[in-house]
Amino acid sequence: MNRMASFCVALAATFAVPVCPLSAATAADARRGSEFFRTQYCVNCHAIEGQGGKEAPDLGQRFDRNYTPAGIASRMWDHAPVMWKAMSEKKIPLPAISADRAADLFAYFYSVRYFEKPGEAERGKHIFQSKHCSDCHSLTASGGSGPGNPVDHWESLADPIVLVERMWNHSDLMKGEMATRKIQWPQLTSQDLDDLLVYLQNLPQTKNEKLAFLLPSGEGGEALFKEKGCVNCHKGELALEFRLGDSTLTNVAAAMWNHNPQMQHPHPQFTLPEMRQLLGYIWAKQFFYTKGDVARGHKTFESKKCATCHNDSSSGAPALGKPSEPYSAITMVEILWKHGPNMLEKMQARHIPWPQLSQTEMANLIAYLNSR
Ligand code: HEC
Ligand code: HEC
Ligand code: HEC
Ligand code: HEC
Repeated sequence: MNRMASFCVALAATFAVPVCPLSAATAADARRGSEFFRTQYCVNCHAIEGQGGKEAPDLGQRFDRNYTPAGIASRMWDHAPVMWKAMSEKKIPLPAISADRAADLFAYFYSVRYFEKPGEAERGKHIFQSKHCSDCHSLTASGGSGPGNPVDHWESLADPIVLVERMWNHSDLMKGEMATRKIQWPQLTSQDLDDLLVYLQNLPQTKNEKLAFLLPSGEGGEALFKEKGCVNCHKGELALEFRLGDSTLTNVAAAMWNHNPQMQHPHPQFTLPEMRQLLGYIWAKQFFYTKGDVARGHKTFESKKCATCHNDSSSGAPALGKPSEPYSAITMVEILWKHGPNMLEKMQARHIPWPQLSQTEMANLIAYLNSR
């Protein structure tokens, strides 16, 4: 762990609130991201879901829903030189993208892409049975009576957050019933959760419900995190920003379900809007904290020639390390747009090709830079 991170852990433990990194300011907002995308001319070249310019990749098509923050950062990084050239030809000024705006953009990309690559109903059906859900829940009221309500009586299955909110609020009852029946608390992956959702949404009796996914803004989430007692355990070693690097929203949801038995009982109850705020908040926090492998990142730093300039004070490149904010997927986007064009020029002068970085390489590099 780097100095900044351990400092944050210490602070978090002292004040019993997650104070770092940048947590107070973190409220990624998809709507603001969409606004930025329009006003900064991104939309002149890029369509999202078919709307907008045609000459650059449709960003709604390209990002699959399992993208991670490091994945987006790596794609922007890889394509930046071609994009800058296209921008300068069109006399579009390069935008400054601060870390906050990058977080908004990520949230926006995430929401527009949401239904593109749905789970598989067939797998979901299998999970509903193999994870014992069907032991207690029939699909229709006439399908037999378990202790749990039949699926066609569930309130709504519009999106995964709804499912999680329902599951969370009823988990005390479920836990009791499971104990009676000697069923172990089932563990679900995020893919399981997606598949389950698609299966449950497409049953004859639920099929006609209108689906809409709204990426939650994390606004208010931090207050809930305190009020509902999450912060009593999730500080210091258990602080979520250090545990959930590069997760999708369904990863977070699945983690909450899986760790249910370890959390306090009875559970605090959440309304649906509160669950949205809470998940939005937890999800956005990790933009500012990327998990990666320091040793591998070190190798990438060498093999992609970053070291050629950054470890040589005569090259004119700044020595990296001890940043005032820890490096993360979103600060890498900020850096890319701020320092990238100049860096590209220097690379061209030295015949170093613009390094291409995979999602994993990006995450590892970030971890390495934070450890320097
Ligand atoms: C002048 C046209 C133009 C503008 C304006 C523009 N882009 Fe691009 N962008 C491109 C092109 C062209 C590519 C593909 C480059 C390549 O193929 O390597 C691209 C690629 C990308 C990619 C990688 C997509 C992938 O394939 O995964 C991202 C992300 C991206 N742009 C984001 C943005 C954002 C955010 C903005 C606004 C701040 C923006 N772009 C503005 C032309 C543009
Ligand atoms: C041992 C029995 C049992 C098992 C196994 C079980 N549940 Fe439940 N479930 C219950 C009970 C009891 C309730 C509370 C009564 C109710 O609201 O249905 C409940 C409630 C729910 C609710 C809220 C229903 C509503 O009315 O909105 C959802 C959603 C749910 N369970 C999903 C699941 C899923 C998904 C699984 C499998 C991973 C599962 N349950 C496994 C017993 C069980
Ligand atoms: C009584 C202590 C306690 C409370 C209160 C609590 N949790 Fe947890 N939580 C845990 C423990 C213990 C783990 C499991 C950590 C592990 O796997 O080692 C966990 C895991 C998690 C994880 C998964 C983290 C990971 O490492 O994958 C999430 C997300 C989470 N909790 C969210 C919440 C939220 C949201 C609240 C408030 C509604 C909350 N927790 C309240 C103790 C608690
Ligand atoms: C050809 C030399 C060269 C190479 C190769 C190079 N850089 Fe740079 N880098 C620079 C220069 C010069 C700057 C300062 C640009 C400016 O004027 O803003 C810079 C700036 C940066 C910054 C911003 C530093 C700050 O002050 O915030 C980071 C982070 C960075 N580079 C990371 C990398 C990584 C990661 C790689 C490898 C994938 C890399 N660089 C490869 C020359 C290089």
